[in-house]
Amino acid sequence: MSQLLSPVAFRDVTLRNRLVVSPMCQYSAVGGLANDWHFAHLARFALGGFGAVTVEATAVVPEGRITYGCLGLWDDAQVAPLARIAAFLKLQGAAAAIQIGHAGRKASTPLWWRGAFNETEAEKPQVGFEHWQPVAPSAIPHMDHPDYQTPRALTLAEVQALPARFAEAASRALRAGFDILEIHGAHGYLINQFLSPLSNQRSDAYGGSRANRMRLALEVIEATRAVWPAGKPLFMRLSVQDALPGGWTIEDTLALAAEAKPRGVDLIDCSSGGFAGAAIHPAPGYQVPLAHAVRASGMPSMAVGLITTPEQAEAILSSGSADLVALGRTALDDPNFPLHAARALGDAVDHWPRQTGFAVRLRDQALERAVRG
Ligand SMILES: Cc1cc2nc3c(=O)[nH]c(=O)nc-3n(C[C@H](O)[C@H](O)[C@H](O)COP(=O)(O)O)c2cc1C
Repeated sequence: MSQLLSPVAFRDVTLRNRLVVSPMCQYSAVGGLANDWHFAHLARFALGGFGAVTVEATAVVPEGRITYGCLGLWDDAQVAPLARIAAFLKLQGAAAAIQIGHAGRKASTPLWWRGAFNETEAEKPQVGFEHWQPVAPSAIPHMDHPDYQTPRALTLAEVQALPARFAEAASRALRAGFDILEIHGAHGYLINQFLSPLSNQRSDAYGGSRANRMRLALEVIEATRAVWPAGKPLFMRLSVQDALPGGWTIEDTLALAAEAKPRGVDLIDCSSGGFAGAAIHPAPGYQVPLAHAVRASGMPSMAVGLITTPEQAEAILSSGSADLVALGRTALDDPNFPLHAARALGDAVDHWPRQTGFAVRLRDQALERAVRG
């Protein structure tokens, strides 16, 4: 039996296998509300046998959305459509996970596939167009580009209020029925902006020394853990390194992980980058060494980034580099990846939905008979 397809438990939640769908923004919400697109997009991964399916970066406050089309959990009305999704994921045997975050200075950018703010006046009400000035640790823009504005620096009182906003969103995620909560601390978004000296030039208790720059992340963990039940796992996604001179490093991540663990973080989801000009060169498994370093320090880890085959995923687990493997674009390309992986690795597990699995088995038997003649 492969490790990839074997179950694994985090607290009271057992994943049927170690394949996780990575959070992927769909830029398809109006007013932060999930709709049928989000349902269909996520449902197919549960039907495809994934151990856990993660809902995209979901903003804890409206101004924390990457785009006006991003999901939110700042309002009670946003619970019900997410609850419908979580219920279906669980009914199909997947753990339901959700990522909560705040984009900071990278908020209010154009929808990816548009590439610019080119909505017509007629279209704007239909797509829920909104544009606002982002907030950040310091008034430094992400980059000199029309997509990014100069943010307003958060006041001390505003920073101190942020952990409560994460906790409120976590409470709503709980009411929506999610099993796993992931705090988004990666990709140059707000928490990463506080961690990194490149974007944090504050002179109060949240800037300066590493301990000060880590303060918001740790307060968010504490506030979130206080409302997220002890039986449910709390994950955190980090850019393990900014990959820029003077930026956040692997060593910094290990220091943060050591503080996060006793506060109830169960796993670090190991990504990287998010600042303009980062020296990151995607290649197969390019972020696996980061997950390996985190796991070697005693904190469970999830590997992500250009993982495309069952054999590669199995090798990541068997070499001890990670506890879980997350797939982003590979899951989009093949929502049935876990079902196909079981076949490729020769595992007897069968997570096909009963409505469709029998038909595929009959097809395979017919093919075998035809080959035998
Ligand atoms: C369309 C798209 C949307 C994404 N949205 C998010 C997101 O909401 N939160 C996040 O942490 N990462 C996001 N990512 C990054 C992925 O979760 C993943 O880490 C990255 O794509 C690398 O994995 P892959 O090579 O398997 O795609 C997104 C990636 C894609 C392709």
